[in-house]
Amino acid sequence: MYGDTGKGSKRTPLTVPRLRQMKSAGEKIVALTAYDASFARLLDAAGVDMVLVGDSLGMVLQGHASTLPVSVADIVYHCACVARALHAPLLVADMPFGSYATPERALDAALPMLSQGHASMVKLEGAGHALDAIRFLSERDIPVCAHLGLTPQSVLRLGGFAVQGREERAAQRLREEARAVVEAGADLLVLECVPSALAAEITRDIAVPTIGIGAGPDCDGQILVLHDMLGIASGHRRPRFVKNFLEGRDSIEGAVRAYAEAVRAGDFPAAEHGYQ
Ligand code: KIV
Repeated sequence: MYGDTGKGSKRTPLTVPRLRQMKSAGEKIVALTAYDASFARLLDAAGVDMVLVGDSLGMVLQGHASTLPVSVADIVYHCACVARALHAPLLVADMPFGSYATPERALDAALPMLSQGHASMVKLEGAGHALDAIRFLSERDIPVCAHLGLTPQSVLRLGGFAVQGREERAAQRLREEARAVVEAGADLLVLECVPSALAAEITRDIAVPTIGIGAGPDCDGQILVLHDMLGIASGHRRPRFVKNFLEGRDSIEGAVRAYAEAVRAGDFPAAEHGYQ
């Protein structure tokens, strides 16, 4: 929503309050990651609602084995690149590992994401200590997207990337965490790699929209890593929730349009992309 040269989008820029209206109206929110101006322009033209400059850039752009090495400066730089070409989609900046270890650090990290990166929202993983950061930021009028379920920044503690919330005790913790992040002020919640039925239950239970990735069809919106849905091998195992939308199509914009249509029609994700 920050200015651009030559972008064609005629859509009204998506605002944070509009996300809740979309949830109430049952309109699916279409989200993808992007890290540069060219892809941002294309996603805008293809009708995507929300663009995340994810710390997944550490894996798909920088070639790291995890998202942990990504810095605040990396996110700010890539946000600024994306923002130059983005008009209508809401731009969300991912807060890197360690950058929200205390509420004050979270504010220091978030401010350049908004002022230099031109993001409209920041995303951070987990509940626990992250609740203090969510509250601190939202009380200072910084919109926050929470991220629960599989939280890739916890890879060292989790010992890998696995589905979360399968056992009843873990499922109950996730339900409580979802309520807690909303109570702390989160405006949006990403649910990653959780059983489809649990994601559906959380989506019904909370007032803010949920965005699923490996969380079944009943979330209020869906997100994928751009490189994954274009079938660009990143050297990592492809999770089952990923679908290659470029397969059988002759352009990247066509693939992104097909993804947006499939999400809005409720055709993606299908049962085979979800977990029980
Ligand atoms: O970093 C990222 O791209 C993300 C999405 C997968 C939700 O957090």
